[in-house]
Amino acid sequence: MPGTKKVFVKTFGCQMNVYDSERIAESLIPYGFTETECLEEAEVIVLNTCHIREKAAEKVYSELGRLRQVKDDRREQGKQTIVTVAGCVAQAEGAEIIARSPVVDLVVGPQSYHRLPDLVFRAQSESRRIVDTNFPEDDKFSRLPDRLVAKPAQPGATRAASAFLTVQEGCDKFCTFCVVPYTRGMEFSRPVSGLLDEARSLISRGVRELTLLGQNVNAYHGEGPDGKDWTLAKLISAVAKLEGLERLRYTTSHPHDMNDDLIAAHRDEEKLMPYLHLPFQAGSDRILALMNRKHTVAQYRRLIEKIRTARPDIALSTDIIVGFPGETDQEFEETLTLVNEIGFAQAFSFKYSARPGTPAAKSEEQLPEEVKTKRLHRLQELLASQTSRFNEGCVGQVIPVLFERPGRHDGQIVGRSPYLQPVHADGDATLLGRVIPVEISSAGPNSLLGVIRAA
Ligand code: SAH
Ligand code: SF4
Ligand code: F3S
Repeated sequence: MPGTKKVFVKTFGCQMNVYDSERIAESLIPYGFTETECLEEAEVIVLNTCHIREKAAEKVYSELGRLRQVKDDRREQGKQTIVTVAGCVAQAEGAEIIARSPVVDLVVGPQSYHRLPDLVFRAQSESRRIVDTNFPEDDKFSRLPDRLVAKPAQPGATRAASAFLTVQEGCDKFCTFCVVPYTRGMEFSRPVSGLLDEARSLISRGVRELTLLGQNVNAYHGEGPDGKDWTLAKLISAVAKLEGLERLRYTTSHPHDMNDDLIAAHRDEEKLMPYLHLPFQAGSDRILALMNRKHTVAQYRRLIEKIRTARPDIALSTDIIVGFPGETDQEFEETLTLVNEIGFAQAFSFKYSARPGTPAAKSEEQLPEEVKTKRLHRLQELLASQTSRFNEGCVGQVIPVLFERPGRHDGQIVGRSPYLQPVHADGDATLLGRVIPVEISSAGPNSLLGVIRAA
């Protein structure tokens, strides 16, 4: 029986938050809730927030401003609304959110989602505002309900063909610019058996592709069924054996943890897709050291060589920061040089944003906004040209595509290539959830267009 109460969840930030949002919504199902996309009918509203850059954190407060009206309107109709701030802003700012924003009833950190039903109940019945940002001793994953069929795999349903699975959380690397170690806590790997159970349950509801997630996913060292710590490569090999699963991915990796067994998996594991997101952040050794990145440019270059030897067609992706405190023009040029040398299929680039409590924020060498903007512009131009070139290289090839959702135009469906490019083709909705060869006819800056060759 679907529940009569409604929860609305809005997600900001990274893929881990996308995964968490699903688990948040599912945690309330046993208590009579269903998920809604209509804000006005929700008894519980959850903003799952991101603190990584200033702009990300600001978005939350503008969203909360809009929620005030919704809550007031519902109150006039005699309905209660519990506004919840979850995620990394919740962890970083805690009680400050309550002080700054009267609309908020509940603040819950990323390690406390298993306590959400109880917290919601208390906020409702005791009519008081609650903050829970402890890093509890108990493991939330083992206390959250099993994966429920919250989003059934129907033709037309989105996200059913491909799902995220968090295998590792937190980070001990303490890059000097980054808030993640403070918002997500220390590194923690989930045991293999629970992960295999969750993977099986996702596959049984129609999932064909899994992306294993972690802030430092390649540092994975969870307990295996043999009592020993397993590496990510070993976990990948076990997940790849699950029947019904066609594709596997993982993200985000740190260069420091990119071990030979994981590189070999790109050669040996057929289901592991030829795509790797490996952030390098900066092309200068001095800046990398100031960032506490634990790798040099030469080490990164060498890693890429090894990876390309193992899997020559691999599509590489990265994250880059421009304008880290003290970065000179020359050092920024070194970032461009490295990008030119390696050639990325995809990349995410950001202006450095000073984050409260991080060491780099205290540096006296902060750069002017205009300098950062100019550098970002030049870098993004170069990255866009590389992505276009990579996409154009696919034209004329026949590529297996996992179709995931209907397209914007009638009769069109959209899927992903092994290299993670969105591929549009004319096709029937019955093809969703299947991997089908597509001949690529043209390439845009961010996606491909093709013709289905055989169904
Ligand atoms: N765990 C991942 C990154 C998580 S954050 C890793 O280590 O690669 C995602 C990206 O946001 C980072 O790779 C970095 O490029 C960017 N980022 C993090 N903190 C930032 C900051 N203070 N300013 C600008 N970009 C930042
Ligand atoms: Fe942040 Fe660095 Fe950890 Fe990535 S490795 S999450 S950038 S501290
Ligand atoms: Fe943002 Fe937290 Fe992810 S800060 S990037 S939501 S880990």
